[in-house]
Amino acid sequence: MSIVVYLGDAEETREWIGLLSRLMPDHEIRDFDDPGQLSAVEYAVVWAPPRGGIARFPNLKAVVSVGAGVDHVLRDPNLPKHLPILRTTGPDMVQRLREYVALHVLAHHRELATTDASQARGEWRQIVTPVAGRRRVGVMGLGNIARACARTLVDLGFDTAGWSRSGRQVDGVTVFAGADGLPAFLAQTEILVCLLPLTPETRDILDSRLFAQLPKGARLINAGRGGHLVEDDLLAALDSGRLGGATLDVFRTEPLPADHPFWGHPRIRITPHIASMIDAETGASVIAENIRCFERTGASDAVADPKRGY
Ligand code: GLV
Repeated sequence: MSIVVYLGDAEETREWIGLLSRLMPDHEIRDFDDPGQLSAVEYAVVWAPPRGGIARFPNLKAVVSVGAGVDHVLRDPNLPKHLPILRTTGPDMVQRLREYVALHVLAHHRELATTDASQARGEWRQIVTPVAGRRRVGVMGLGNIARACARTLVDLGFDTAGWSRSGRQVDGVTVFAGADGLPAFLAQTEILVCLLPLTPETRDILDSRLFAQLPKGARLINAGRGGHLVEDDLLAALDSGRLGGATLDVFRTEPLPADHPFWGHPRIRITPHIASMIDAETGASVIAENIRCFERTGASDAVADPKRGY
C-alpha cells in the first residue's frame, strides 16, 4: 500500500518522501506524479495539488493537507466528495504563528517601518507610541491556532478583541460574533489580524467596505489566505490613508508575481507565506502520527469538515 506526496516543488517533495519513508517503513512513499499502481495509493499528502489529480486514486482513504488550511484541496472541482481531509496542525505550527502575530503586531504598534525609514535617512526621530494596554488589536477567526495567537496578544498586554462565526469565548479577549458583531468589532480595531479560514463566506471579506469601518489609519495583518483580500481595495485604502499599513503573508497568486504592485509599496510589508511554515522533519512526523491515528480509529481530531470548509 502506498502514500503519494505533492508539494509543488520537486526538491521539497523528494525531501518529504525521504522523511516519510523513514517514519512509515510499512508504506511505500511515492511522488504524486509517479505514483505507480493507482489502486495501491491509500493517502495523498499534498499542498495545492493539481485539479483532477486526487480523483485518479480509486482506493484513497484520505487526503492529508500539509498545512492547517484545506482550501487548497477543496478548490479541486473533481475532488471525490466522500474523502476525509486531514489537517496538519500541532504545537510547532501554533508556536510559529504566535511568533509571527506577535512580531508583526508589535512592529505596527511600535511604528517600526517609520523608524526604519528614519534610519535610512540617517535621522534621529523618536516616536512615542501608546503602551500595549491602550492599543486595540482585533483577531478575525478564533480557531485553535487563532485562539492561541489572541492569548499571546493578551499576554503582551494588548487590548485584544476577537471575531468569529460562533463567538466562542477566549480568556481575556472581548469576543464579537457573526455578521451582527462585525461592525462593533471593526470600529474598535486599530490593528486587524486576519487568521480566518478561506470559505465561500470569508472570500473577499477584506474589502473597502470593511476597511471603511476601521478607525482611520488602522493596520492590517493578513496571515489567513490571499483570497480574503481584495487587492485593489487595499491599495486604494493605503493610498487614501484609510489604512496606515499592511503586512501580508498570503496572496491570491503565490509566489507573488514579480511585477505585482505590492512588492514596491512603501506601506506594505511582504512575507512569502511563512507565518506558520513547518519544517519538513516536524511536519512529516505530525503527518505520520495523524495517519497512524486515522488508521487505528478511522477518525482523528485532524479531520476537517468539508461542508464548513475547515
Ligand atoms: C498555512 O497556510 C496553513 O494552512 O497551515
